[in-house]
Amino acid sequence: MKYESQAVAKLYFLAALGLFLGQIIFGLIMGLQYVWGDFLFPLIPFNTARMVHTNLLIVWLLFGFMGSAYYLIPEESQRELYSVKLAKLLFWVFLVAGALTIVGYLLMPYARLAEVTGNAYFPTMGREFLEMPTITKVGIVIVALGFIFNVGMTVLMGRKTVVSVILLTGLVGLALLFLFSFYNPSNLVLDKYFWWWVVHLWVEGVWELIMASLLAYVLIKTTGVDREVVDKWLYLIVAMALITGILGTGHHYFWIGTPNYWQWVGSVFSALEPIPFFLMTIFAFNMVNKRRRDHPNKAAVLWAMGTAVVAFLGAGVWGFLHTLAPINYYTHGTQITAAHGHLAFYGAYVMIVLTIISYAWPHLKGHGDANDERSQVMEMWSFWLMSVSMVFITLFLTGAGILQIWLQRIDGQTFMAVQEKLAVFYWMREAAGLVFVAGLILYLVAMFTAKKPALEEAS
Ligand code: HEM
Ligand code: HEM
Ligand SMILES: [Fe+2]
Repeated sequence: MKYESQAVAKLYFLAALGLFLGQIIFGLIMGLQYVWGDFLFPLIPFNTARMVHTNLLIVWLLFGFMGSAYYLIPEESQRELYSVKLAKLLFWVFLVAGALTIVGYLLMPYARLAEVTGNAYFPTMGREFLEMPTITKVGIVIVALGFIFNVGMTVLMGRKTVVSVILLTGLVGLALLFLFSFYNPSNLVLDKYFWWWVVHLWVEGVWELIMASLLAYVLIKTTGVDREVVDKWLYLIVAMALITGILGTGHHYFWIGTPNYWQWVGSVFSALEPIPFFLMTIFAFNMVNKRRRDHPNKAAVLWAMGTAVVAFLGAGVWGFLHTLAPINYYTHGTQITAAHGHLAFYGAYVMIVLTIISYAWPHLKGHGDANDERSQVMEMWSFWLMSVSMVFITLFLTGAGILQIWLQRIDGQTFMAVQEKLAVFYWMREAAGLVFVAGLILYLVAMFTAKKPALEEAS
């Protein structure tokens, strides 16, 4: 580690990984409830488990992004972090607020949670991914402001690189767009309309900037390719992400009561959205082909290549699959959507965070550039277990989705009658989910048992 203050990233990474495990456990609970409706009822109803699963996902990814920024910004800026104290303080604020919110979800029905947190006075609750009570949202804003101030000052007072400026832009965008979660119009069309400004403009807008800059950072470090080359790729990726992604929001405005022209705008622009993801794939392969050295942290390089490929599959291919209005007319809100949501979130944002953790971990543990061979092998196994099982989850849900569309949307059978017929797919999804959690546990074991490489390995 070049700068002492980078060590603060470790706290954030630990919290991220812990919450990730929690997220997956709730995924498995829900997966079982899909085929065994009474499982854990009334202790953990499906809607509660769903809320915990999706909100934990968002919160641990935010921990991951913040940890990544705290790790990367000092090195890019060639100076210590502006304030380590502030970074630590905000960490505890965020962790405690997050934990209390999850406890709230689990202890009482959502309506009661809304009531006790004063939602009547300042209503912001009741929308997927953003079910946090208003006070939690305020907490997130305070943490985000302090965080951006901290990394922003570091960037401003140090060396400015394209990587750090794009990362900062993405993070500022993330925080600004989150403010729309406070705007909760009673008109349902407007409500949905602006809800997507958070969810869509995050994952298909500013988060892509975060992903591209984190990927670029790891590729620069592991391949030794010149920054001039990397910077040109970054400009291209960022431009394409914003050109396609902003108006691409229209693919969520097909059937919510917005004007019809959105069917054209949304279809055309979102059909181009795979481009930036494809550029990231070519970028990663190009850098590795042009590498000036073989980095000893092979696991981190594997994660970097993996995220570049799986993000394209999940977001690009599975996104394109249902993004044209005439197709989305049939697929909207079916298991096709869930299939895409899983592979896209996993490939792009889960994997990029795991890439950075994988790259940073040996440095954070004082092992030098890489961990010992045995833990790297374990880590690469965990990569394959998680990635292959997620591809299977996606395929099973896609199968379920196709059948669902046929039976429900075309043949006109009722929702629940169709769900019953899809049980075999859901059982297979659950089995793949068990493999996924095994992969995740292996990742954690690899990280916690990692050792310094033996001398002959290091040379
Ligand atoms: C990493 C980037 C992406 C992530 C994380 C992501 C995630 C998601 C999620 C979670 C949903 C479900 C939202 C909900 O209704 O609750 C969704 C919906 C959708 N996504 Fe993506 N997505 C990404 C990129 C893309 C791309 C590039 C495209 C198009 C090429 C796309 C097309 C769609 C469409 C059309 C829907 C609406 C599905 C429906 O009508 O039910 N997504 N996405
Ligand atoms: C890193 C891994 C995972 C990610 C990123 C992830 C992400 C998500 C997202 C974004 C949603 C909302 C989907 C939508 O609205 O379309 C969701 C829902 C769900 N997830 Fe996951 N998930 C993961 C792992 C799992 C696992 C391992 C299982 C279980 C085997 C699982 C089971 C479910 C279920 C049952 C739902 C609810 C779907 C519904 O409402 O019908 N997830 N997950
Ligand atoms: Fe979208």
